[in-house]
Amino acid sequence: MTAAPATPLLAPLVAPPVSPLVAPSILSADFAQLGTEIAAIDAAGADWVHVDVMDGHFVPNLTIGPPVIKALRRHSAKPFDVHLMIDPVDPYLADFAAAGADIITIHVEAGAHVQRSLQVIAGLGKKAGIALNPGTPAGAIEYLLDSVDLVLVMTVNPGFGGQSFIANQCAKIAEIRGMIDASGRDIHLQVDGGITPETAVQVVAAGADVMVAGTACFRGGPDHYAANIAALKAGA
Ligand code: DX5
Ligand code: ZN
Repeated sequence: MTAAPATPLLAPLVAPPVSPLVAPSILSADFAQLGTEIAAIDAAGADWVHVDVMDGHFVPNLTIGPPVIKALRRHSAKPFDVHLMIDPVDPYLADFAAAGADIITIHVEAGAHVQRSLQVIAGLGKKAGIALNPGTPAGAIEYLLDSVDLVLVMTVNPGFGGQSFIANQCAKIAEIRGMIDASGRDIHLQVDGGITPETAVQVVAAGADVMVAGTACFRGGPDHYAANIAALKAGA
């Protein structure tokens, strides 16, 4: 009789959990040297580069547009994840695609014809995302799921970095995780706002697989970026 092998011949039945992705929001970077900042956060382990676009109308703040994104594009080969907090979106989608966005996320609350806008993004050859403000229920995107590659649950009211996490959004994240799994489609579930190593635990437990973080990634300057990103992944 031969002895039992010391190591199992079959792979474990339960796959190890997949590490969530981290998408640093450059809203918290030093705007005077954005190119250098993006290269640094890329080298520190960022999975995606999150770009917050604000119009002073849909949200009470103004940031950057396609020319700046185009100029930044050569500083990182990582996916550019462009979060449009603008209304209307349709006149600008082609410009953001041409500037180098890989993922273009629009808000379900912005514009009367969101499904058409998502189709336009897909037609431009880009991944399409749909975002929900904290007050918007999960059901608002039920009939959009077959048109998107990403759902973004805002865990703060959009417009500013450095706000506090709204904990009741975890129930919505869990509800949308169930909707995505039931759809059978390969859709990312992203969260944005107030993400720290502590809140990362909660959102990943609820079903998120991509975490946007501005303050928590850029805190302390470039020497801290790798540790900041690692802390978010470890927390999750
Ligand atoms: C808020 C933006 C966020 C913001 C996150 O409107 O969409 O991406 O920069 O910043 P923190 O991580 O500081 O909450
Ligand atoms: Zn954002």
